[in-house]
Amino acid sequence: MTSGATAAGRAAPGTAATAAGTPLLTVSGLSGAFRTPHGEPTEVLRDISFEVPRGRITAIVGETGSGKSLTALTVMGLCPPRLTVRGSITFDGRELLGLGEDGYRELRGSGIAMVFQDARSSLNPVLTVGRQLTDVARLHRGVNKRAARDLVAEALARVRIPDPRRRMAQYPHQFSGGMAQRAMIAMALLCRPRLLLLDEPTTGLDVTTQADVMELVVELAGQDGLTACLVTHDLGVVGETCDRVVVMRHGTVVEEAAAADFFRAPRAEYSRVLLAANRLADEPGRPS
Ligand SMILES: Nc1ncnc2c1ncn2[C@@H]1O[C@H](COP(=O)(O)OP(=O)(O)OP(=O)(O)O)[C@@H](O)[C@H]1O
Ligand SMILES: [Mg+2]
Repeated sequence: MTSGATAAGRAAPGTAATAAGTPLLTVSGLSGAFRTPHGEPTEVLRDISFEVPRGRITAIVGETGSGKSLTALTVMGLCPPRLTVRGSITFDGRELLGLGEDGYRELRGSGIAMVFQDARSSLNPVLTVGRQLTDVARLHRGVNKRAARDLVAEALARVRIPDPRRRMAQYPHQFSGGMAQRAMIAMALLCRPRLLLLDEPTTGLDVTTQADVMELVVELAGQDGLTACLVTHDLGVVGETCDRVVVMRHGTVVEEAAAADFFRAPRAEYSRVLLAANRLADEPGRPS
């Protein structure tokens, strides 16, 4: 399946982004079950297939517990140990399932970076934000401490954190929720990933901050041909920022479509329910 329309307000990706023409990430027939001490394993991912085209933003939407985070974590090789998965996940043509810890370590960061569901809890409370980001920069960019600090200041400025040098000396609790989220995005960007996975990056933020963070994600995705996959509950955000939509329910993909097609004519019954619940189905002026 190829990607359709580009989200409103975003330029079509450049040739570098689309060079190979194939999706950057392809998940096919991914199934997963939790082992239980007694009885049958609990199946939570059922034959999931979808594609993440290069240089675009793909949304994964669906009700709570539908398997969105587990799918993203499995792509990163971070699924819980009791989850047994089978199927195929290819990143730029390379099979990821069965890669082993060394392979995943190499992949994480510069290949795929993830911003987790709760940004603040992903930061270490006893280290300054600057120290944490500097460590990541040193590891992934192979530079000395001083150069790493310059890269961090630059990355924080890029995610629009004012006065980055002063902020670097602060601890996570001194950051607002929106700033912690931006710092996590800056951390992911410091790795220069080819694919950025964002798991509900705006949960817990006020509406204005949510909009700011999403605007930032779109802007960043528009630069450098960055490919992003965004897990969200917010179809308003999807309509404004995403090119493709993957709809999940009960561990399955019920629809995969260009965003414009999804909003104009959703194919799955559950997609229609989701749209109605978001009160967007009848709203005039949907992006098309
Ligand atoms: N560590 C775990 N042990 C057992 N079951 C789990 C574990 N993590 C997730 N699950 C179950 O797997 C299913 C999918 O969970 P997942 O976290 O992927 O949902 P989600 O779509 O991200 O939901 P949300 O929108 O609430 O974040 C759920 O039924 C959940 O209860
Ligand atoms: Mg989740």
